[in-house]
Amino acid sequence: MPDEPLTPETVPDSLVDFSPSTPSVASRHAEGTLVDKYGRHVTYIRLSITDRCDFRCSYCMAEEMTFLPRAQVLTLEECLRVAGVFVGLGVTKLRVTGGEPLVRHNAVWLLEQLADLPGLKELVITTNGSQLERFAPALRAAGVKRLNISLDTLRPDRFREITRVGDLAKVMRGIDAAQKAGFGRLKINTVMMRGGNDDELVDLAQFAVDRGIDIAFIEEMPLGDIGHPRQASYFSSEEAMTRLQTRFALLPSTETTGGPARYWRLPGTATRVGFIAPHSHNFCNTCNRVRISARGDLYPCLGNNDAVRLMPLLRAHPTDDGPLRAAIVRGMGIKAQGHEFSRRMDAPQVVRFMSMTGG
Ligand code: 5AD
Ligand code: SF4
Repeated sequence: MPDEPLTPETVPDSLVDFSPSTPSVASRHAEGTLVDKYGRHVTYIRLSITDRCDFRCSYCMAEEMTFLPRAQVLTLEECLRVAGVFVGLGVTKLRVTGGEPLVRHNAVWLLEQLADLPGLKELVITTNGSQLERFAPALRAAGVKRLNISLDTLRPDRFREITRVGDLAKVMRGIDAAQKAGFGRLKINTVMMRGGNDDELVDLAQFAVDRGIDIAFIEEMPLGDIGHPRQASYFSSEEAMTRLQTRFALLPSTETTGGPARYWRLPGTATRVGFIAPHSHNFCNTCNRVRISARGDLYPCLGNNDAVRLMPLLRAHPTDDGPLRAAIVRGMGIKAQGHEFSRRMDAPQVVRFMSMTGG
């Protein structure tokens, strides 16, 4: 078994806790599916399996981070149980995230189990690439369909500066290993930073073209107090697009994953370029996803602090999924109509770090 059994743990926090019996947050629950108050179907979950990471990216974490004690993190069996209940409620796509998911001991075991959930069509992960050299073949064998790999720069010195501890060569070997293992549709995620990597956006797109992979440029989001201001580094998708158009023709594409990304094709290449503009509100009406943090809090919206705590239910009812299922269904009732990010980047508008809930 991958994890030692844990005793029930109370998670001290100030989260809104909607217990299964809260009557005022009923959502429409038709035929075993998840539908929120605004009629949006939730078919995609992002499950963070650890808040830990072997990098300390400056836009993601404070230099000194305190990570959760082990007892406050879902065990791998609990992760599987939660995912199983969501899949039973019609979820067809699951992204495993972190922190860095591959630093979790026995992550591959969990991925194998998740891939076998009947009804799950797409199992994908987001990783920083540091462990891929070692794990790429095992991930492929486990049934992971696609990988998103974070890469903000192609310069080793800069990579070290941004991640504080990371080694670019190792991540590059990881990308090689993933391609060699047969992951066809790799995607690079690049967080754009004015004065940090904005002069490399064209080069990063060229890297994607040369590798025959996709790339998504992400606007920095005000998630968590990182110990320094974000305002100066904010770089918009519009500006990035203008930069890319100096080298590439961008053909609009209608492809969408139901999230804040808008995709463009680069003619004559296999590459799609996405721009993730979470600051714009115009994607919320098609939002199809919810997030589960490493400690088992269900966050219906990335840009909103409301959550439902699942861990106490998992531990109070170890053999009965009924209360967990009911809490998840009712959790849809607190899914916000739209997120609360604004252009203000000077104060964290969402108290948790991305490493808690995953991207
Ligand atoms: N804003 C935007 N993107 C972020 N990521 C981590 N923190 C932030 C933030 N505050 C990115 C990571 C990774 C993806 C999952 O989210 O770099 O590529
Ligand atoms: Fe780790 Fe990803 Fe956060 Fe960087 S952005 S510290 S790789 S979780």
